[in-house]
Amino acid sequence: MYQQPPASPKPDIAAWFRTYSDRLHNDPYPFYAYLLEHEPLYYIEENGYWVASRYEDVNRIMKDPLFVREYRNALPQHQQQQAPPPPAEWRPVNELLGNWMLFRDAPAHTRLRGLVSHAFTPRTTERLKPKIRAIAEHLADGMAEQQQPDLIGSFAYPLPVIVIAELLGVPQEDRDRFKDWSSMIGRVLEGSDQPLEFAQQAGRVAEEIAGYFRQLVAERKSAPREDMISELLAAHEQGDKLTEQELIATCVLLLVAGHETTVNLIGNGVLTLQRHPEQYARLLAQPELAASAIEEVLRFESPVQMTSRLASVDYEIGGRIIRQGQSVTVMLGAANRDPAQFERPNRFDIGRSPNRHLAFASGPHFCLGAPLARLEGEIALTVLLERFPQMRLADDKPNWRPNILFRGLGSLPLRLC
Ligand code: HEM
Repeated sequence: MYQQPPASPKPDIAAWFRTYSDRLHNDPYPFYAYLLEHEPLYYIEENGYWVASRYEDVNRIMKDPLFVREYRNALPQHQQQQAPPPPAEWRPVNELLGNWMLFRDAPAHTRLRGLVSHAFTPRTTERLKPKIRAIAEHLADGMAEQQQPDLIGSFAYPLPVIVIAELLGVPQEDRDRFKDWSSMIGRVLEGSDQPLEFAQQAGRVAEEIAGYFRQLVAERKSAPREDMISELLAAHEQGDKLTEQELIATCVLLLVAGHETTVNLIGNGVLTLQRHPEQYARLLAQPELAASAIEEVLRFESPVQMTSRLASVDYEIGGRIIRQGQSVTVMLGAANRDPAQFERPNRFDIGRSPNRHLAFASGPHFCLGAPLARLEGEIALTVLLERFPQMRLADDKPNWRPNILFRGLGSLPLRLC
């Protein structure tokens, strides 16, 4: 059970982060409120990293090119060549994740993002609308046949997974394998203090994933199709645009992004609406608010709670100096509840305007899939409310997954009428 942080003596914030998944995942918001008010920029000495929670600071850190993602770019120039290699156990994982645009800086980041960005513009995404709606309708049919369907397993998870698998061109029948792979990567992304055994297990999974995609790329080489793998392969074959490792890493990033995030948006959305019956009734009466409701869910229960950046120079914020090479964890979930930015931030209001939340980050790494996630979320809410307006939670206690990075439910059993 989460305990209210003591007002004094000074609480042990480091311990809260250490035990986050056990103590805080049910309700992190009192903790965030404490950080926002008392420790908006806090240095955790034992781990050697900063925690930033205020909207203004978080936004500034993500937008300022002086904060980078690649460790070597955070070092002084004369040390950049000498950056220590990652421990051998982590090498397979690093080979895969290290080639993600998410962890690269310009110019590599710009090149990698540029190769796929056209597929995720609002205009391209809009064309997928009928298809996403048909998938959502089909999944809702499946829910209607069940006594007490689990929203996550029957709807929120398969919807984005089917969409991204189709876009990429990976076979639907391999879905169960993707699920295990992507949840393993989700755990890797969570943090650095994992034991050696975990590194070895994750390494095996990384090699398995890379092998799977290498095979798929070989198939597309002999028989190209109209999918993203074939498109990326064409870029790879043009020469110096994309290495094979980058090609595979990009496919995996898109697959994982499609697995670990939008599912949380849909699940958190239904849960939050059920916990705020007046807002649920408002949406039923005004279905045209679905897009705005999705923005408020993104703010109120952000599917990605935090990310990080490295200072490439000594950087001053609010009278404190983040030293060159130090890491800052930026708390998106806390920034989205900052009273300096949002009026009555703990109020869930599906008509909130303006609502400039940071759920998709900001700056050069702003979520590439945001238009797709928004569309999927809006269609999901619309279809669910049309089909099951009487739906209710079958269980009062939400089953939050114990992951500090991604905020989402393991299951959400519903009664449909
Ligand atoms: C509700 C759903 C989603 C949320 C909340 C979300 C959130 C985020 C956040 C916070 C970042 C930036 C992380 C950072 O800067 O460290 C990000 C980046 C990214 N997201 Fe999403 N995401 C969602 C869905 C998706 C989907 C569906 C896709 C594509 C299939 C996607 C693809 C990406 C990619 C490729 C990046 C890296 C962009 C870059 O580095 O330039 N995301 N996302």
